[in-house]
This record gives sequence, C-alpha cells and structure tokens, in this order.
Amino acid sequence: MARDKSSFVCQSCGSSFPKWMGKCEGCGAWNSLVEESAPAKTSPLSRKLKGGKAIEFATLLGEDKEYARAQSGLHEFDRVCGGGLVPGSVILIGGDPGIGKSTLLLQIMARLAQFTTTAYISGEESMEQIRLRARRLGVQNAPVQLAAATNVAEIIASIDRADGPRVVVVDSVQTLYLEAIESSPGTVSQVRAAAHELIRVAKARGFVLFLVGHVTKEGTIAGPRVLEHMVDTVLYFEGERGHHFRILRTVKNRFGATDEIGVFQMTEQGLAEVPNPSALFLSERRGDVSGSAVFAGMEGTRPVLVEIQALVNPTNFGTPRRTVIGWDSGRLSMIAAVLESRCGIPLSGYDIYLNIAGGIRISEPAADLAVAAALTSALTGVAIDAETVLFGEIGLSAEIRSVTQIDQRLREASKLGFKSAMLPKPLPGRNYPALGIRTNPIENVSELLHKLGLGQDRPKRAVTTKAAG
Ligand code: TYD
Ligand code: MG
Repeated sequence: MARDKSSFVCQSCGSSFPKWMGKCEGCGAWNSLVEESAPAKTSPLSRKLKGGKAIEFATLLGEDKEYARAQSGLHEFDRVCGGGLVPGSVILIGGDPGIGKSTLLLQIMARLAQFTTTAYISGEESMEQIRLRARRLGVQNAPVQLAAATNVAEIIASIDRADGPRVVVVDSVQTLYLEAIESSPGTVSQVRAAAHELIRVAKARGFVLFLVGHVTKEGTIAGPRVLEHMVDTVLYFEGERGHHFRILRTVKNRFGATDEIGVFQMTEQGLAEVPNPSALFLSERRGDVSGSAVFAGMEGTRPVLVEIQALVNPTNFGTPRRTVIGWDSGRLSMIAAVLESRCGIPLSGYDIYLNIAGGIRISEPAADLAVAAALTSALTGVAIDAETVLFGEIGLSAEIRSVTQIDQRLREASKLGFKSAMLPKPLPGRNYPALGIRTNPIENVSELLHKLGLGQDRPKRAVTTKAAG
C-alpha cells in the first residue's frame, strides 16, 4: 500500500496545501497550518467510477411531504430555527467558549424531552458537571439521556438504532475522534470526518442533530466554519463578555430565513428569553445627551431598536483615531467623509468613537442616518430629540437612500413610544402608512442636520471651538 501522503490544512478555513506556510493563503490566518495525513489513494479514480447504479430522476413537484417541526417552546430559539426543528436536520451551533452554548442546549433538550426522546452527549464535561448544571437550571428531572463520550464509533453505535433518540446533541464536535484517522481530535480532518459520519446517521434515521463548535482564536483547533457547508442550519451564539445578553443568529438555514436573531439574557437560572429586545437595548438610554441617536433596525424579520453613541475628541497628534464597536469601521469612515466634504462638518481633525449600546452588532447600511446624526450631535454638543428614531442609507453624494421593511421599523418605534421618525423619502407614487408615528422624510444629509437643529448655517470655526472648548 502506498504511504499516506500528508498535507498541511488550515484549521480555520480548511484550505489544504502541499507544504507548510506561516500564513494561510486561503483566509489569511497566521500559524494555522497543521500537518494532517491524507488517506492513501489505492487505485485510479476512473476505475472506481465504473459500474455505478443509475440514479432515478423525478419532478420538482414530487410527493407532498409535510415537515412536522418540533418546537421547544422557547420562542426565541424556535424562531431562529425557522419555526421549529425539522426531522433529519443538522444544526451547527458556533460561538466563543463560555458564551452559553451548552447551557442553551441543555435547556432546549430538557424542554424537548417532555414529548420526544433526547440524548445529550458531551465530550467536554463529565456527567457530574452536566448534572450540576441541570440542577442549577432546575431541569434535573427532565428525562434527557446523558452520556460522556468522544469516540464517534461508540456514539454512532448508540444512536444508529430504530428506537434511538429523536434529538441528539454532540457537545462539542472538536472533542470527537475516529480511530481510522491519525490526526488528533480537533484537527480539520477529524472534525470533518466525525461530523460527516454523524450527519449521515442523522439523515438516515431522521433525527435532529445538534453539533456544537467552538470558535477558536488560535489556529490549532478547527473552527465551526469548516463544517458550515455540511450542515442544514448554522447558528452563531454571540455576546460581549461583561454584557448579559446573548444573541443567537441564523447564518444559514435550509429550512427557514437567515439573519433571524433570538435574544436571551444570561441569568442565574440559565438563559431567559427576551421577548422585547428593543426595550432592553434602550433601557439604559439617557435622552438628553449629545452624540446619541436611536436607530430603528431590522434583524431578519424582526425590528430591533438600538442606541448609537458617538464621541468626538480633537486629535492630539498624527492620524485621527476611528474606534468602532458593533458596526463596520469602513462604513463609519465613509459617513465621516460624506459629512466633511458634502456638509462641511470638520471631522478629520477629531478622533471618533462609535458604539452600539448594549453589545449588539449591526450590519445594516440603514444605520447610516443615525450614525451621521450621532456624530454631528457629538461634535456640536446639541442633543437629538429623544423621541425620534432614524434610519436610511447615505450615498456618497449625501443623498438618503431607501431601505427595506419600513413599516415594521415604524411599527416597532411607535410601539416603544417614539413620536417621530426621520427616514428616506417614499418611493414615487407611494406614501407611508399612518402607524401612530410622525414620518419626516429626508432627501439629503444637509436636510437631516437642518431638521435636527445641528450644524445648519453654523460657520465651521464655531462648530470646532464649541466642541473643543
Ligand atoms: P456554557 O454553556 O458552559 O458555555 P459554552 O458551552 O458556550 O462554552 O456557559 C458557561 C457560562 O455561563 C459560565 O460563564 C457560567 C454562565 N452561566 C450562568 O451565568 N448561569 C447559569 O445558569 C449557567 C448554567 C451558566
Ligand atoms: Mg460547553
């Protein structure tokens, strides 16, 4: 038999190279290549391809197969999964260590165990540790089948049965190993092969499989990204350390919408649902300070209101700093450039700090308007009306562009007691519906600043002196 050839595989993106390099050419990660042995090629591929059985083609219509989704009753979770768990589907839950993946899954399993058979297989913690957590969560009486195992062959032997569990959690996939593969647990080849075997069984038996994957900073352990293409649904559990809320975000879903979020709060008794995240994100807001604007955003199908905070400070020396938490820094530079060159707001001499309050990350360009307002308000020291929300995308010529799902944004703002909204002009021939909130369409950034009482007719120097003094 030919000697196994080895290759160097990036543990963060899975790219493989014939020789070692300090930096992965695939994803740019440093020091992430690990030598892994590739299975030996025994015969030319073309010979193996002969004699296969022909597949049968069918129509798109096919037979109607209603998916009965299993619901955990934890609404924030069910929604993120597209309304419940589809039998035979495989869900990858990624996230930083310690963010709460095991806690969430144990809670979900305890709920599902009320009406179906569930198994929780842990490769990281001892049975005692999991029991301790279950007691802490108050779910110790739920009929969840518990096991501590890391050998994939053993795991498969216990779940690949007609009377096997209908929902299986494997926590985490980085601890699993197949004896047939030489590399150590956590390497890309082990993680992929283990996931592949488990997924095959889940599809054949029709049970729901949860795979937990830690997001890793150092390159020697394969991250969940190397599995994303193999699973049906990818959820990431996010949250800032020091903040107690956590966001479960759909990155991929073959059975539902992506970009959905579920919001949870970490409490003494585990993760609690946050049915109204906007109220939570805005709960610590002080209405009368400059540099603060409320953005009516969308996360998937759900409106979320967040406070955008800006602080500007004269630059002491060199290039001004641009520090952003929770938003895109390239986008911030663009808004600052538009404000400066189109509206005469002198930001280039200032350090800018921008923060999305509460630790949530937003990616929508619709936040542009609120960011521009917060920046200018911070510079002029004039507070923005506390009962106004803003949303709209800003173009390079300072025009305000339309965004999607305007009705939902307005409805949510109105529900939370906001009185007016600054937003893009409606498309030609259309009007905004009356939703209990005053709409204030804006055409360009200068008009926005004028309507907010910021920077209009102010000579540049006056603005600078005021902020500096
Ligand atoms: P865990 O679920 O172990 O994280 P992961 O599986 O993603 O690594 O979560 C651990 C953290 O959650 C730990 O810092 C303690 C905290 N925690 C609570 O605050 N309350 C609780 O009820 C539980 C069980 C954990
Ligand atoms: Mg864990």
